[in-house]
Amino acid sequence: MHIAFAASECVPFSKTGGLADVVGALPRALAAAGHQVSVYLPRYRQTKLSDAQTVARSITIPFDDHYRFCSVVTGGNHSGVRFYFVDYPPFFDRDALYGTSSGDYPDNAERFALFSRAVLEASKILGIPQIFHCHDWQSALVPILLRTQYAEDPAFQDVATVFTIHNMGYQGLFPPDILPLLSLPWDLFTMSKMEFFGNVNFLKGALVYSDFITTVSRKYSQEIQTAEFGFGLEGVLRDRAATVTGILNGVDYDEWSPQVDKFTVAKYSPQDLSGKAKCKQDLLAAFGVTSPDLRLPVIGIVSRFAAQKGFDLIAQIMDRLAREELIVVALGNGDRQYEEMFARLQKQFPQRIAVKIAYDNALAHKIEAGSDMFLMPSKYEPCGLNQIYSLKYGTVPIVRATGGLDDTIEPWDARTGQGTGFKFSEYNGEALLLTIKQALKAFRDHASWQTLMRNGMNKDFSWNASAKEYVRIYEKVKQARATPAMAAV
Ligand code: ADP
Ligand code: GLC
Repeated sequence: MHIAFAASECVPFSKTGGLADVVGALPRALAAAGHQVSVYLPRYRQTKLSDAQTVARSITIPFDDHYRFCSVVTGGNHSGVRFYFVDYPPFFDRDALYGTSSGDYPDNAERFALFSRAVLEASKILGIPQIFHCHDWQSALVPILLRTQYAEDPAFQDVATVFTIHNMGYQGLFPPDILPLLSLPWDLFTMSKMEFFGNVNFLKGALVYSDFITTVSRKYSQEIQTAEFGFGLEGVLRDRAATVTGILNGVDYDEWSPQVDKFTVAKYSPQDLSGKAKCKQDLLAAFGVTSPDLRLPVIGIVSRFAAQKGFDLIAQIMDRLAREELIVVALGNGDRQYEEMFARLQKQFPQRIAVKIAYDNALAHKIEAGSDMFLMPSKYEPCGLNQIYSLKYGTVPIVRATGGLDDTIEPWDARTGQGTGFKFSEYNGEALLLTIKQALKAFRDHASWQTLMRNGMNKDFSWNASAKEYVRIYEKVKQARATPAMAAV
């Protein structure tokens, strides 16, 4: 089968979060299973290509009263996957992918509309897939266009679409006059299509027009059909419930495993944990913690700083947490509000919390390897990858029982020796503090803590099983398209 991915980020070319890890790894797993896979991405300033070659010199993209002309370059073939980049420097040659800490770029609708239209036009030159697999609002126009402006295009008659929601919190909401600017028909501006409380909603359009909708964990697929987690789109999802499913993300153990990690000072494994102490020392040195007591537990945080991640709970309890014997190391960037909050906490509790406001992949690996515990108190979490990486590093996750965090972490039971981490349900500081205290208590029992570490290290969340589930869905939608009476849309 030929599957074409369209997404706004992908390791190793561009990354702000877990979407990039998924788009970097799933195509490779599909190619390894014998499928033909192409991945379309924007060519950002950050995208490093060793031998970029132009494969489409001029693609015409209509806007209201003018055309823009972009090109497509290939980034070559990696592990059997072909990478294509939409090149349009006025839109993508910028400091960041989506915006700065004070907000999104004001022309994001135009940027990602150009990207999505370019994907469709480029595929006519480079090979029409059987499936377009699109991710998040930035590529939402692909399924929307295919069933509206391109509905009569003979090139795409049999092409099916799968859309993966990585995060309902980002929908691509724009004022109505974006439609004519993007050369889209007003007829899309109705409640059953893209209209959403007076605005245009890209994500909603994709949920209406895609043949199948997936999200990145089973629990999140249920949560987003409720008002608490649906961000206003729960009704749209419930209408399509028969074509919505949750497939847990896998992780790439070639990148994220203490046995092969390129960024850590020592390797270790479930059989020989001794290297982890060196990683801890190295981590604390990287955070400028001088002459640390290595017996103190280290709690790591690596995150986009966004409301979703639940860090307001840490602010609520930090004064009481500071009375415990522990060190928190936090790496992250994003919303200015949380950057300032973490900087303030470090100033207030210099003995207890060390913070780096940055995006730093090497340091993220050092935190996974060098910490004893990993904290993700998320308000909501579609899947979450860091807790899964943490398991492999014997870094015990402390998580809120939501979305993928709930699906991947089993509560530790010291009596049976079963479980992989610590979870709490109520979204409040008290519940978090209580759970951290439980973890600290368990940490004091060295032998059983090692059992807990090994339980996690022995788990397997590699892509194989999840890639198979995606293939089953591709087959299903392909078949439905071939027999139009059965097609979902
Ligand atoms: P999300 O996609 O919501 O940000 P995930 O847990 O799925 O959450 O994925 C986050 C990914 O981004 C992980 O690979 C993590 O290591 C990485 N990451 C997040 N923030 C940073 C940072 N400040 N520096 C380096 N890597 C980061
Ligand atoms: C999103 C979610 C995260 C998920 C990632 C990859 O950014 O916030 O939970 O792991 O996408 O699917």
